[in-house]
Amino acid sequence: MKAQIIIHKSFAIGEIDQRIYGSFIEHIGRAVYNGIYEPTHATADETGFRGDVMELVREIDVPIVRYPGGNFVSGYRWEDGTGEKSKRPQKQDIAWFSIETNEMGIDEFQEWAKRANTEVMMAVNLGTRGAEDAKNCIEYCNAETDTHYANLRRTNGFEKPFGIKVWCLGNEMDGRWQIGTKTAEEYARLATETAKIMKWVDPSIELVASGSSNCNMPTFVDWERTVLEHAYDYVDYISLHNYYGNRANDFPNFMAKSEEMDRYIKSAAAICDAVKAKKRSKKTINISFDEWNVWYRTMGQSVEKWQKAPHFLEEIYNFEDALLVGCMLMTLQNNCDRVKIACLAQLVNVIAPIMTENDGAVWVQTIFYPYLYASRYGRGRTLQTIVTSDIYQSKDKWDIPYLCTSVVDNAEKRELVIFAVNRSPDEDMVLDLDLGGYENAHLCEHIELYSDDLKATNTKEQATVVPVKKEIRDIVILRKHSWNMLIYKY
Ligand code: AHR
Repeated sequence: MKAQIIIHKSFAIGEIDQRIYGSFIEHIGRAVYNGIYEPTHATADETGFRGDVMELVREIDVPIVRYPGGNFVSGYRWEDGTGEKSKRPQKQDIAWFSIETNEMGIDEFQEWAKRANTEVMMAVNLGTRGAEDAKNCIEYCNAETDTHYANLRRTNGFEKPFGIKVWCLGNEMDGRWQIGTKTAEEYARLATETAKIMKWVDPSIELVASGSSNCNMPTFVDWERTVLEHAYDYVDYISLHNYYGNRANDFPNFMAKSEEMDRYIKSAAAICDAVKAKKRSKKTINISFDEWNVWYRTMGQSVEKWQKAPHFLEEIYNFEDALLVGCMLMTLQNNCDRVKIACLAQLVNVIAPIMTENDGAVWVQTIFYPYLYASRYGRGRTLQTIVTSDIYQSKDKWDIPYLCTSVVDNAEKRELVIFAVNRSPDEDMVLDLDLGGYENAHLCEHIELYSDDLKATNTKEQATVVPVKKEIRDIVILRKHSWNMLIYKY
């Protein structure tokens, strides 16, 4: 099979906001406790952060991490995770029916983020709480005034404000599973008033309004429209969440899910723009795709109630999952004109690329690699390309090109980075590139992620699915069901 990508230097979709390579750490399962925080671990630093996990997070170069939830945030009192640890209350977490010790809270998380070279994206509780607590939280984190909550932060040992820039107004408030579920109208009013007050406390922040929990929610579209009709002037982003799966064990249909993600993004952007037109506004609302991943095997898993840091939602990812994650990262890059933040959910242990053993080893899952390479090399402008590729029809009756690709021009490094997945289950692809405006560009690196077995997984003992450096040849071949990164220097 043959495919072609026509590129021209002058035609760009837009500048990539590096925050599309963000991730997510929730108080759930072993994401925080025994994930990023484990004081007894051999690699732990003086604060209790695992050094081996920190190293991998730094290696990915994660620019932003959403915290502390997720569903967890809708029942959370942020104050419980501040101040002297011995005085912090142990609580029932009614989102996940676990015991929350509160050993880790925003005091520690912002410190972890600094050490991990990342930025905190903080969510406030609009499930059981409201505008006043959000106001207090932002004063605690960001204010320099001589006032109660800013002084409480100082008393707790943090003279300088944390300076958290991006804030989420609740989480999945349309979901019946959510603590404090709301109708669109109820949420819209609460989010608007909370947003207004938060920006009065700190006008420099950016706010994310909660969109639908996923694109299959019956109220998707009406929810976004209602929320934005109220909150348009006070918020900056609308959130999108979606998880994809291969329950039917249908590889071609599974590989088409990144096109579904593309349609979801474009629909959400259209809703934002419809409200913009109705309001005759000059402002554009962008998208924060702040939960996305493959997740289906452990969805709905039940564990014994009221445990501390149980093994929970520890999805084991296989090779085909890595291919789809690679494609979805390309979808985010190709929509960089509207998607400014995105969070791979999640980062450690819970539906995550990084796995740990309590008091033991750290290892990486298959999905770690496309995420690592997209984040490290996908910086710059995404180019508008013309792709010619054979297509197939997915079970859902969509025309899907076998070639999934994105092209990023990193002007600083004078590199043209081409990400490409051959979605074909059985045929290799010869790739022809027309590099208009990059006359001297030459291929200097070809990294491939491939396994004969679509179901191959990595384990603590054995890394089966790992990237390899390919020999540079005159012809670029994308093997059947493979993920590739080609770097052209110019
Ligand atoms: O990421 C796991 C959960 O999925 C989050 O807590 C919630 O927001 C979503 O439903």
